Amino acid sequence: MESVPRAESPCDPSALSPFWDSDIDTRLADFAAMRERSGGVEFIPQRSGTGFWSVTSHAAVREVTRDPTSFTSTRGFSLDDMPPELLEMLGSIIAMDDPKHQQYRRLVQVAFSPRAIRQMTDYVADLSAAIVETIRERRDFDFVETVGANLPFQVIADLLGIPTADRPRLRELIDLILGVNDGEVSDIETSLRAVAEFFEYTVDLGRSRRQNPGDDITSHLMHAEVDGKRLTAAEFGSFVILLAAAGNDTTRTGLSWAMHLLSRHPDQKAALADDFDGLAANAIEEVLRWSSPVLHMRRTATVDVPLGNHVIAAGDKVVVWYLAANHDPGLFVDPTRFDIYRENARDNVAFGAGGPHFCLGAGLARMEIRVVLGTLLAAFPNLHTTAPPDLLRSVFVHGIKALPCTID
Ligand code: HEM
Repeated sequence: MESVPRAESPCDPSALSPFWDSDIDTRLADFAAMRERSGGVEFIPQRSGTGFWSVTSHAAVREVTRDPTSFTSTRGFSLDDMPPELLEMLGSIIAMDDPKHQQYRRLVQVAFSPRAIRQMTDYVADLSAAIVETIRERRDFDFVETVGANLPFQVIADLLGIPTADRPRLRELIDLILGVNDGEVSDIETSLRAVAEFFEYTVDLGRSRRQNPGDDITSHLMHAEVDGKRLTAAEFGSFVILLAAAGNDTTRTGLSWAMHLLSRHPDQKAALADDFDGLAANAIEEVLRWSSPVLHMRRTATVDVPLGNHVIAAGDKVVVWYLAANHDPGLFVDPTRFDIYRENARDNVAFGAGGPHFCLGAGLARMEIRVVLGTLLAAFPNLHTTAPPDLLRSVFVHGIKALPCTID
């Protein structure tokens, strides 16, 4: 992949800057330069006249996300501000503070408990086995389409009770929403239309589940109460959109990076295939550390609060970069090295750095990645990529659009 020439401000990771046009090695080098020049916390002015605090050290990312009193989630979860009506449709619990956040999170938590995940394992193994048969027939295939974007969406769609016929369109809508910064995929207008269409869909789905309840999260949410009141259409719709998008795109990205990284390190792939049960847990943490499928989350300071060598003013935006924290050499020795034996790979912050918003689906994602990788490596020890990943241009997710693969 070619890198795009760097602009006058090479280390500005805002959506419009050339930062996100570069290849992964350049991005990592740029984040390293940011961390070095700032000690992990610095203010980046933007053309609009405002700006944001960019947090790139592991310690400061933890500090921010574990202090929800000083750093609120209610003003938005992404670097770029969203109009309030858009935030209402896309935010849900990720844009709430406690105690409200906990009240709503609790409504769905049981569906993602360790027990629920264990019960889903055989079913995910069956889905993986079906994918193996598809690959056997095709031999050359796009990993993202055939595996990454396929299985996690089936799982979350089943959990939500989304009818099979509606799934392809909903998957397209999620791509259009998350591809907002990638001209090949979407643009702002298209992305906004996609959010509105998804939102209308969820409202209809909710209505039908109220009349004909099933054994799914959607039916449960339609009948749930918070403080004695049913969820409003907006609360319900945004919750379903969050679960559908978060449950699909992130795991698809994690799986695709796993395939890329293991193909780039065939010795580690062979070792993993030989001793999958012994090595898988740590290998998956290392994939998540290295790739960080979610690039950032944003908080907003509620009070003047010290962070690093600065005092963040009340009202300032604070962006925590998981990719940068996961490559902080203060914690991870030689951080760009991919090493499934890395002793502290588990200290990664790919699912968040603790605090009330820590990823609700972390257990599900880990299980899905483990089952899919285990099934694929057992069936095709020689499965490998044939080209580098085609990266999504995004300031928010570390997406892969395509990853050609073959079985020799
Ligand atoms: C490799 C896969 C995944 C990664 C890397 C990932 C990453 C993250 C991150 C970084 C956060 C924000 C943490 C914070 O702000 O402190 C988050 C939140 C969340 N994730 Fe995931 N996630 C993944 C898979 C999933 C899955 C499978 C689901 C299932 C629905 C899910 C549902 C959620 C939800 C609902 C939240 C918001 C939690 C809250 O605000 O309380 N995620 N995730």
